[in-house]
Amino acid sequence: MSRPSQAFTLRSFLANVEADDPHGILRIRDKVSLDYDPSALVMEMEKTGHSPVVWFEKVGDSPFPVVTNLYGSRRRYALALGVPEERLIEEWASRNDRTIEPAMCKTGPIHDVVLTGKKVDLGYLPIMRHFNEDAGPYITNAIVIAKDPDTGVRNASFHRMQVKGRNRLGTSLHSRRHLWNYVQRAEERGEDIPIAVVIGAHPLFTFGGLWKGPITSDEYAVVGGMMGKPLEITAGRTVPVEVPIDAEIVLEGRIIANKREPEGPFAEFTGYASERSTQHVVEISAITHRKDAIYQDIVPGISDEHTSLLAVPSEARLLRTLRQHFPNTTAVSYPKSGTCRLHVYIAMRKPAPGQAKNAAAVAFGDDLSLKLVVIVDDDVNIFDDRDVFWAMATRMQADEDIDIIRNAMGAILDPSNHAGMTAKMIIDATRPSANFPKRHTLPADAVKRAQALLKKAFG
Ligand SMILES: Cc1cc2nc3c(=O)[nH]c(=O)nc-3n(C[C@H](O)[C@H](O)[C@H](O)COP(=O)(O)O)c2cc1C
Repeated sequence: MSRPSQAFTLRSFLANVEADDPHGILRIRDKVSLDYDPSALVMEMEKTGHSPVVWFEKVGDSPFPVVTNLYGSRRRYALALGVPEERLIEEWASRNDRTIEPAMCKTGPIHDVVLTGKKVDLGYLPIMRHFNEDAGPYITNAIVIAKDPDTGVRNASFHRMQVKGRNRLGTSLHSRRHLWNYVQRAEERGEDIPIAVVIGAHPLFTFGGLWKGPITSDEYAVVGGMMGKPLEITAGRTVPVEVPIDAEIVLEGRIIANKREPEGPFAEFTGYASERSTQHVVEISAITHRKDAIYQDIVPGISDEHTSLLAVPSEARLLRTLRQHFPNTTAVSYPKSGTCRLHVYIAMRKPAPGQAKNAAAVAFGDDLSLKLVVIVDDDVNIFDDRDVFWAMATRMQADEDIDIIRNAMGAILDPSNHAGMTAKMIIDATRPSANFPKRHTLPADAVKRAQALLKKAFG
């Protein structure tokens, strides 16, 4: 009998993608160069409006195939959750309420190959340079698993990893969330933080890693909640951190206490090569992988993949948080025009006077990266910048409907902020009064007839 967990591997998901859409995976059989070629292909492909997963069979001299752009389309997030695309955010938000404890296994495919000691050489993996300005080759799909130094609770979070040597990486904890907090507490005692770095897993594992919940929640249990079954894990070989048995590749190592070295620049979601880094140092003690491992990359910078990985979980989380206070919140959108991180649009049904500003305050408290919150009524399509700007043009007066909070904590990767401080703007573009003019509309049956005629004309 096959293990039920086999359904939650990267490879099982890639098979689902192909079953869902025969054009869902673009296979590049020609040999490509390790540096720049995969990023260049994905960035050029974005311009054509297509966004399949890209599977490079031969990258440089690496024995591993490389898969990238898995998260370049929201359709695939929905596929991973098993819901239609229009249910994606609601489904994600509801799964965040559920946790299932992981199941401990003796071993698993992640230990098919175990390299330790002198055999540890990061040059063995197809770790590539992505953009001209990057300081070196980077692992961009690195989900770091660490344990709270006081409670042992496990955290999973993405962190860029610059290759600095055979067994040495540089990283940045600029999100200043749980791992940053763990490292701060461990460093006060002069202790390293042991970590496992997961490269390549089923999207539901990744979604657990993107979860931003309380520091007391074990994120392996969050992954279990996402999957609807326990995540199967096994002991790390050189670190006291458990690893998922179905991952493709895992690096084991430690974040070295009180050590800082230059890291970056690196092409970030802002569209700039960012020089800002917390400059942490990682020493690798083991590389483990499945015998036929697939190396999964994420094209960094302002690619659709990188930015939608920021937008989708943030929309789900903020929608959930806002609804706890304001059940009339109907939708949340982190638009690409705001890098999917710095700006947010919120739609509310019939907001009470002043409620838009309260909702904006909740959003700023929930997500330190935000610098602009625009609140609109629920008749506005917040997934279309033009509709939001139309609401601002026709329902907002700058002297009354704009508020600015000065010198608040912001995203350090925003190149315009000052030493981590930023201004935050609220735009209330909701209808100012109940007797506001009505939007013009058309009869539904006339719209249907028009659509049928257009279909006949244009196909
Ligand atoms: C592709 C990708 C790369 C990321 N890289 C970093 C990074 O290098 N440093 C960082 O601090 N946060 C990075 N983040 C954001 C954190 O991983 C994210 O905020 C995470 O949810 C934090 O988890 P936590 O709340 O459990 O601490 C990245 C996110 C994504 C999607």
